[in-house]
Formats: sequence, structure tokens, C-alpha cells
Amino acid sequence: MSHQPKTSAHRQTPIAQTASGNGRVLAGLADIVKIYTIPGSPVEIPAIRGVSIEVKEGEYVAICGHSGSGKSTLLNLLGCLDHPTSGRYTLGGLDVSKLDDNALSEIRSQRLGFVFQSFNLIPQLTLLENLEVPLIYQGISPILRRQRALEFIERVELSDRINHRPMELSGGQQQRVAIARAMVNDPLLILADEPTGNLDTATGEIILKLFDQLHNEGKTIILITHERSVAEHCRRIITLRDGYVIEDIDTRSNTSKP
Ligand SMILES: Nc1ncnc2c1ncn2[C@@H]1O[C@H](COP(=O)(O)OP(=O)(O)OP(=O)(O)O)[C@@H](O)[C@H]1O
Ligand SMILES: [Mg+2]
Repeated sequence: MSHQPKTSAHRQTPIAQTASGNGRVLAGLADIVKIYTIPGSPVEIPAIRGVSIEVKEGEYVAICGHSGSGKSTLLNLLGCLDHPTSGRYTLGGLDVSKLDDNALSEIRSQRLGFVFQSFNLIPQLTLLENLEVPLIYQGISPILRRQRALEFIERVELSDRINHRPMELSGGQQQRVAIARAMVNDPLLILADEPTGNLDTATGEIILKLFDQLHNEGKTIILITHERSVAEHCRRIITLRDGYVIEDIDTRSNTSKP
């Protein structure tokens, strides 16, 4: 792998001045369309049909909507895991909509942190090694990797389990490791797809408290959920239906965005 050491791994994320962001646009979607096509078939599935939203630094946003409304598709686009069919996506001032797969993978490893419903930890690796993986891709030295992994495992209160493998942990503990892994490269943006979907309510609350804490530290978070109780932790709720944004509300002031 030809990745060079990147000082961005140690970038300090600016602390948001207000709970709803400090005004600088971090992720800007302009008229984004995503149409899935199936090779060899004339069928086209329009999953996202012209979405324009701006997420500012420090915002804590929920994306809601029924099954099939386009939530995961939108998160995949925000997470540079897929290309839009048309439209423009700017992340941290960089137009990422036209970048090729290699460049997008570079952006993902440097600027983004992901948390998935099914945790997606590497089963053969210990917790500590799981946290070191994103740092290997950034070319961070082994000593610094270990130091940083230990720091973040401590943040999620699993320092006594560092040599365990994911299967030896409960779902809630695995999700805490996944959050630590999403944080370890100091991402610009944290993206979570149904992070409490596989957890019971009490364990889900522990995970949501962790997200609340990250938000209070100024991190920018976009979280998908179909549960209202989860969305209510967020400061902004964007609702999708059939690939359109049908509602975008500020939960603090209860006002809709234009
Ligand atoms: N890879 C794909 N190829 C073709 N169609 C897809 C693909 N991924 C999703 N779709 C379709 O796009 C639409 C939106 O799907 P998406 O997965 O974004 O929904 P969702 O809101 O995340 O649903 P859920 O709550 O069930 O996870 C659906 O009609 C789905 O069938
Ligand atoms: Mg989904």
C-alpha cells in the first residue's frame, strides 16, 4: 500500500460554538440523484430523486423514513461509498462527486468514520487491532497506532478487554468498539446506519449517550434510524420518503428548514 503518513490523523476538530453547528458547511448535497440500474436489465430504481441539504460542522442529524425510502443510499453517498448518478457533493470544501474509486477510498479513510448496525468488526483481530486498522491505512507508526487505539478503547470503557476478539463481547460492547474505531482517525464526519438496530433498548441508550457525548464535544454526526425515540437525540431530523426529503426540522426550535 502506497499511503503516506498523513498529519490529518492528528487534526484537532474545532469545537462547535453552538449545539446546532458553528455555521461552516461540512457536507453539501446539491440536487443529488441516485438511480440504481441492474446489469442486463432495463429496470431503473430511483432511490434518491434530487436531494439538496447542507450539514454544518458540529451538527447532529438524524435521517428518518420508512424502509426503502432511501436512507442507506443517502448515507452511502454521504460516506463516499457510492457515486451519485447526478448532482454535486462537497465534503470539507472538496467536490467529491466526480472522484474515482481510489480517491474516494482515500477520502473515506481520512475524513470519515462509519458505524453500522451489524458492527462490522474484523472477527480475527483483537479489539485493539481492530482500532489500529484505520490508522494503518493512514501510515501512522506502530507505536502511535497502539497509543491512539488504547486511548480510544479507554474512552468507550473497554480497556480491560483489549485482547479479546469481537465474538467474545456483547452486542453493545461490540458497538462501543465500532464507535471507537470510527473516532480513532479523528474524522470530519461520523456516519451511522441504524447503530442501535441490533441492540435492546437499554443497550441502545448507552450507545446513544456515547453519540450525545461526541456531539457535545463538537463532532459532526449523521445517523440513520427509523425510530423516533432515537432521532429525538439529534438536533435535526431529516425525513425521506420515496427518495425525496419531505421534512427537515430543527428539534430545538421545532422549525422547518426551507
Ligand atoms: N444496490 C441496489 N441495487 C438496486 N436497488 C437498490 C440497491 N440498494 C437499494 N436499492 C433500492 O433503493 C431503494 C432505497 O433503498 P435503501 O436501502 O436506501 O432504503 P432504506 O431507507 O435504507 O431502507 P431500510 O430502512 O429498509 O434499510 C429501495 O427501493 C431499494 O430496493
Ligand atoms: Mg437502510
